Amino acid sequence: MTTLARLLPIVVAATFVVVVCCFTTVHAGADPYLDKYLASVRQNKHGLEDIRKLFADRGLDLNNVVENMGNNQEFAKLLLEKLSSVRDMGTIREGENGDQFYVFDNEVPDRPETLVLASCLTDLIRLLVDVSLNVEYASRMWVSRGKLDESAFYTLLFKDPGNRWLCQSVKENKTSQNPPFSGKYCYSAAFNIPAGLGTCVPDTCTEEDVNILAWLLMILIGIEPFYYVDCTEPTPWNTADIGFTAGLAFFALIVLCGSLYDIFLQQLVLGKMRGYAVADDVVKRSSQNAVENDYENVRDDTVEDDQGSDVATTSIDSAMDATDDVQEEMEGAKVNGGYDFRVEKEVKDGVTKEPPAHKKNVEVEIDDSGSSLQRAKRSNNLGWAVLHALLMSFSAVNNCKKLLSAKKTKNTMAVLNGLRVVSMFWVILGHSCSFYIGRLMNPLESLILTDVIGFNAITNATLSVDTFFVLSGFLVTYLTLKQIDSVRKRSTAQWAGFWSLFYFHRWWRLTPVYMAAMGIYALLMPHFGQGWNTEVIYEYIKSICRQQWWTHPLYINNLYPWPNVLDDSCMGWSWYLANDMQFYIISPLILIVLYKNGKAGLALVASIMFVSLSSLFGLNWHYGYTISSQEPYTDNVPDPENADTTYSKPYTRIPPYLAGMVVGYVMFKLKGKRIKMPPLMVISGWLAALTTLWFTLYGIWFSYQRMDVPQATAVMYLTFCRLAWGVGVGWIIFACLQDYGGPIGAILSWQIWIPLARLTYCAYLIHPVILFSRVYSDAVLFHTSYITISYLFVANVVLSYASALVLSLLVEGPTMGLEKVMFGKFKRS
Ligand SMILES: *[C@@H]1O[C@H](CO)[C@@H](O)[C@H](O)[C@H]1NC(C)=O
Repeated sequence: MTTLARLLPIVVAATFVVVVCCFTTVHAGADPYLDKYLASVRQNKHGLEDIRKLFADRGLDLNNVVENMGNNQEFAKLLLEKLSSVRDMGTIREGENGDQFYVFDNEVPDRPETLVLASCLTDLIRLLVDVSLNVEYASRMWVSRGKLDESAFYTLLFKDPGNRWLCQSVKENKTSQNPPFSGKYCYSAAFNIPAGLGTCVPDTCTEEDVNILAWLLMILIGIEPFYYVDCTEPTPWNTADIGFTAGLAFFALIVLCGSLYDIFLQQLVLGKMRGYAVADDVVKRSSQNAVENDYENVRDDTVEDDQGSDVATTSIDSAMDATDDVQEEMEGAKVNGGYDFRVEKEVKDGVTKEPPAHKKNVEVEIDDSGSSLQRAKRSNNLGWAVLHALLMSFSAVNNCKKLLSAKKTKNTMAVLNGLRVVSMFWVILGHSCSFYIGRLMNPLESLILTDVIGFNAITNATLSVDTFFVLSGFLVTYLTLKQIDSVRKRSTAQWAGFWSLFYFHRWWRLTPVYMAAMGIYALLMPHFGQGWNTEVIYEYIKSICRQQWWTHPLYINNLYPWPNVLDDSCMGWSWYLANDMQFYIISPLILIVLYKNGKAGLALVASIMFVSLSSLFGLNWHYGYTISSQEPYTDNVPDPENADTTYSKPYTRIPPYLAGMVVGYVMFKLKGKRIKMPPLMVISGWLAALTTLWFTLYGIWFSYQRMDVPQATAVMYLTFCRLAWGVGVGWIIFACLQDYGGPIGAILSWQIWIPLARLTYCAYLIHPVILFSRVYSDAVLFHTSYITISYLFVANVVLSYASALVLSLLVEGPTMGLEKVMFGKFKRS
């Protein structure tokens, strides 16, 4: 096995060579296009011409638009004139409830009847008249709209949300009819062009009214309709929102009960359960358990169980432990390490205990909790024990203590915590920036500002997710193989039990909190606040989640609906969870072969890798994807055009996972032995790994500005970058676990990562809600600078982890409590 381990540096070195070759092809030779491109960006030729053309295609001369927007009274008079002629295009009709409507002859497509509330049109006309008369309320509404001036040509900023507050500060006075109506804030957004303006209309108009009028106006002026209006209206609390909130409140109530129990009643129940004499001891014991996060200990416990003569009775327990453990560590791969298990352990102390058939098992576990008195008492007090364990697993106080404990044990895998947390921070950093695209106050400046090599850490941030894949592959392999190894002699039925729990536990641990996050995202987020042009986004999220929510608990959201469009997915960022689950589902096939025959297993891994890389290569080649700003190499476009072909598909994303599996297998085979490596080998290994990581992340920058990157190079990079990244990360894991980590190992194993690592899964689920809450409630545009990005990032990290803690206490605690009840039942049957 050591030979295989020794091969690792060679693999790393080979990857390094490939990456460097790739890089040199990109970088070789003079770079005639770079300067030209940058110069043209600076002279804002690109974007501006595109935008001019887009406007022109819609029959608009941009210069005219800007001029008109700047000219207050003139523009108001023009609108007034046009609106008056719109009024003359319709006839008035009485609605059922006494409302009057204008019914127009010009029908808006997709609307059975083109009608507008008469009060809306009358009030709009009155507003424009009052604007030209300089009436105070009307002026306030008028100037609160978004404006363009000729600076747009030089900044590429064709958006202005205007002043939402000023618009909404106009409140109807029913007594004096001055103002005669309140201001309603809307945003007119152009289709397909990054352009749009805030608009303030009378609140007697519905969004649909404004849209129809805008449409009719454009027809009247003689241009093809090119924008829609999105109005900010109070989000109503509908049944689903209320139901979901009630569900959360119910969980909160459970957690509250658990916490109150923990604080006030625990001693009493423990006394009943175990006799007053040992109560203190038990309490102490369970808080010790709380801080034990050492999966090695878990292993030992399991092995101990196994050594008991009555192996059969412990099978389910062991399997459960294994899955919990794998589970927990795996989830730790992005998800919540450590936490679950310790809760589970407490149940072991409390619940598992009474059925006579399992006495052996009970005894092992009671020995584990170390008191013979407990053993005597326990069998009489199952009811109390169940209650105790349940309530304690709900208790926020108890769970908080466990989650936030940073106590380092002899956990040899501490390095993984660092990798998890750093990668999660990185995901948040990437999203902090990417979620603001389209809402920037300085688009051209941002383009130039971020056109530096260091910014690749953000533009190329999707590599962070590949680190999670490596961790997942590593943990599932290492822990499951260890588990299989320790429980060899089992019947088929027991193996079936083992594998069904392998799946069930993972699903159960991941899914409820995932669904809770989805509810918060789709149902509650619209109530957090509204900015400009967000209503339409909230509506979209709701409708897409209504259609597709069920694909998420089945973990097929990256495949269905096919062909998948990431932007049209309910929780776009959760494609990772689907992939990870899909890899997990197939992992036993590989693991069993690996366990039975190492060579065959590695050959299997290699063939899957080959198939995956070939498909990735083929897709990249077929669609002609580029790594620079040039045109695609081929004319083949996915159908629909924005369909995802390679980013979220399991067959293209598995390479780093497989790399992690190989490292896991090597670590398993070493069985805790340390390979002696000469310092030179260690140093070259690190150098090769770090250089590989660096080039994968930053090397691509040199190609961005070029227009002549050969397709072969682009496809090489696109095919191998994630694998190369995975190999580099694999080396970090391997070297750190082998104690060759040096300063990097020390940093990654830092205690401060321990509590944060446990919150990784929840942070992954909830951080987009935090980010979007700000993006979608901002009434203004975002100004990009290094300082604003830094502040945004730090705030997002802190708020995301704080929310992750709440989510974990609120949903994960009760979920685990329920799981205990379920498996308590299993044992009794
Ligand atoms: C409405 O207008 C009347 C008369 O100008 C004024 O006295 C009253 O304070 C106003 N009401 C509100 C709510 O502003």
